[in-house]
Amino acid sequence: MAFATRHFVRAASSDAATAAAKKLLIKHVTIIGGGLMGAGIAQVAAASGHTVVLVDQSDEILKKSTKGIEESLKRVTKKKFADKPEAGAEFIKKTLKNLTTSTDAASVVHSTDLVIEAIVENMEVKNELFKTLDKFAPEHTIFASNTSSLQITKMANATTRQDRFGGLHFFNPVPMMKLVEVIKTPMTSQRTFESLVDFSKAVGKSPVSCKDTPGFIVNRLLVPYMMEAVRLFERGDASKEDIDVAMKLGAGYPMGPFELLDYVGLDTSKYIIDGWHSLEPNNPLFAPSPLLNKLVEEKKLGKKTGEGFYKYK
Ligand code: NAI
Repeated sequence: MAFATRHFVRAASSDAATAAAKKLLIKHVTIIGGGLMGAGIAQVAAASGHTVVLVDQSDEILKKSTKGIEESLKRVTKKKFADKPEAGAEFIKKTLKNLTTSTDAASVVHSTDLVIEAIVENMEVKNELFKTLDKFAPEHTIFASNTSSLQITKMANATTRQDRFGGLHFFNPVPMMKLVEVIKTPMTSQRTFESLVDFSKAVGKSPVSCKDTPGFIVNRLLVPYMMEAVRLFERGDASKEDIDVAMKLGAGYPMGPFELLDYVGLDTSKYIIDGWHSLEPNNPLFAPSPLLNKLVEEKKLGKKTGEGFYKYK
């Protein structure tokens, strides 16, 4: 028995070692979309020693993204190298050296290990992009989407590399937020999954894994919670101010649900809930809210427009 156990342990560890040896060590990353999320992902990837190409539709947008990254790096450096300004300056220099930009995704993916897509939240546009890149990227390249609410499986099916396709869901602001949800579709290979987990750790994040279900872990819990707060307010059971105070002081949340909705953007929340409602129309957690719809129609989208549930002017 002791021999059998020892033999089994040895066999199991050698299997793990073979699987580990087969994992793809991601060195070169292409990030498509230099907005809020893409720029943040580019920053943490470059800062952790990866070579990064950041792609967007125009040089003007990319200039803005790079400037944002430089400013964010300065903030990070001030904290991280508070007593060593020279080391801080060196860190910024090294990070920026790892980062280049391009407006032509097809021409830069030829030597990339990983493509992370962080463009507009629209399935057709994302699929079109992945379909094109599938033709230009090498065989070994892994594709990942940063989508918050769309099905990764559908995007994988737009390509011929379903086994080398997964989700990498970062959180805003990327340099500050420690979590990454690594999403495995039924076709994602173990090798791809493990490579994505390793990459998440390499950029300094704590990965968790989830299947390809609406909202993954965080948004699946957070969005219905925020919608339930809106319904509570819509029914006149409590004021939005009291609901926010209650969740901050009673549940220890840093923001109340209405403050959070205004921060996230009411249009974004509506887009997510509408998408899930169309997938599961009988699920009461995903029911649309007339009040949220009205505010979005009136272009009261939250902090970014100066008014949502609260006024910010
Ligand atoms: P954003 O609007 O700030 O940036 C999107 C960028 O993609 C823009 O700069 C746009 O010019 C560019 N773009 C659009 N189509 C393109 C194309 N075909 N090729 C190259 N570039 C293109 O959006 P954000 O907030 O960065 O979101 C990006 C993705 O990340 C979305 O899928 C969103 O659901 C997801 N996400 C957003 C979070 C957030 O808090 N904003 C959190 C986690 C995920």
